[in-house]
Amino acid sequence: MGSKNKLRRFKENEAFANVFQPTRDELVSSNFNLKGNWRTAVFKNDNPLVLELGCGKGEYSVALAQKYLNKNFIGIDIKGARFWRGAKTAIEENINNVAFLRTQIELIDHAFAENEVDEIWITFPDPQIKYKRTKHRMTNAEFLKRYIKF
Ligand SMILES: C[S@@+](CC[C@H](N)C(=O)[O-])C[C@H]1O[C@@H](n2cnc3c(N)ncnc32)[C@H](O)[C@@H]1O
Repeated sequence: MGSKNKLRRFKENEAFANVFQPTRDELVSSNFNLKGNWRTAVFKNDNPLVLELGCGKGEYSVALAQKYLNKNFIGIDIKGARFWRGAKTAIEENINNVAFLRTQIELIDHAFAENEVDEIWITFPDPQIKYKRTKHRMTNAEFLKRYIKF
């Protein structure tokens, strides 16, 4: 993807009501007002909350949201230009039970409160096959310790 196209997508993400892009500081300083409030503030219901970590273009999050209307889905990825696709499709097709969060998965425990999340999906994550990169694998023990709190 060309850099112009990426910039256009970043700009559109800023205007999308279903995209949330807290800064690292907001998350780490505990100033992120959606932590513990995703259901009421974003989805306006009390349905179960499902996360897709490393959602890429968000195809799974969007498709799951279409299939399971009684659940809320949040696709999470650091690459905003990728999940722009899912966010735009959700807006165009009026799918209101899916949202997207741009953050590093390493910061995820700053974005969700204990017992706030009901299900986590990790579909086709980066395999991180080089030994030095294994600590970045989303299924690495350090990551699992974060998810278990939810
Ligand atoms: C191989 S792609 C898979 C995308 C999607 N799950 C699918 O199956 O099409 C992995 C995705 O995880 C994201 N990712 C990897 N490590 C991440 C991290 N630490 N924090 C946030 N996103 C991450 C990448 O940006 C990428 O979009």
